[in-house]
Amino acid sequence: MNKTAVIFDLDGVIVDTAKYHYLAWRKLANKLGFDFTEAQNELLKGVSRVKSLEILLDIGKVSLSDKEKEQYMFEKNENYLSYISKMDQSELLPNMKSLLEHLKNKGVAIALGSASKNAKLILDTTKITSYFDAIVDGNKVAAAKPDPEVFLLAAKLLNKNPNECIVVEDAQAGIQAANDAKMMSIGIGDKEILKEATYVFESTSALTNDFLDKLIK
Ligand code: BG6
Ligand code: MG
Repeated sequence: MNKTAVIFDLDGVIVDTAKYHYLAWRKLANKLGFDFTEAQNELLKGVSRVKSLEILLDIGKVSLSDKEKEQYMFEKNENYLSYISKMDQSELLPNMKSLLEHLKNKGVAIALGSASKNAKLILDTTKITSYFDAIVDGNKVAAAKPDPEVFLLAAKLLNKNPNECIVVEDAQAGIQAANDAKMMSIGIGDKEILKEATYVFESTSALTNDFLDKLIK
């Protein structure tokens, strides 16, 4: 089946926001009295905000009431927002702007499929909102990745069948979601971690316009 649509994850695929999520979660961990390493941060990639907090609290062996959890998620997000509100186009990952432009010119349908509730703000601050024909973010879905809901809804909004869609993802949970949605998946990152993806590239600079052209024809 020819591919006619590309669904992009946001964090770690279009923008390098993982570093800001890390700084904000580490600040919270330190406040709660424990350390949080970059290696541990890998566990939070692609995972919803509430699930990320649960993983963090597990690492620190801290238990909180629901009210405290809400308060700490709010604080973490305020801190994260202080970083992302200063973002600009220089923080788009290599080749992503060119790829979006290229797909748009070819008439390929483009969607966002992100777990983030801050996705629209990031698309706006980096000035790429207009490339997207559909935006599905953490405010629009009930089930977080690895559930395929986010990608299935994106395909539906684009009026495409899942087998016409290519998903670009950096998280293991996202690759699983794409596979369960019966979509072709392109992983960005470690081949071992993303081994279930149809194709894997070490970084976005290796994901060329020519490569996607071959899939789209
Ligand atoms: C995903 C990130 O895209 O969005 C996760 O990979 C993050 O690390 C999740 O937790 C939710 O993001 P936000 O912006 O709604 O807190
Ligand atoms: Mg991601």
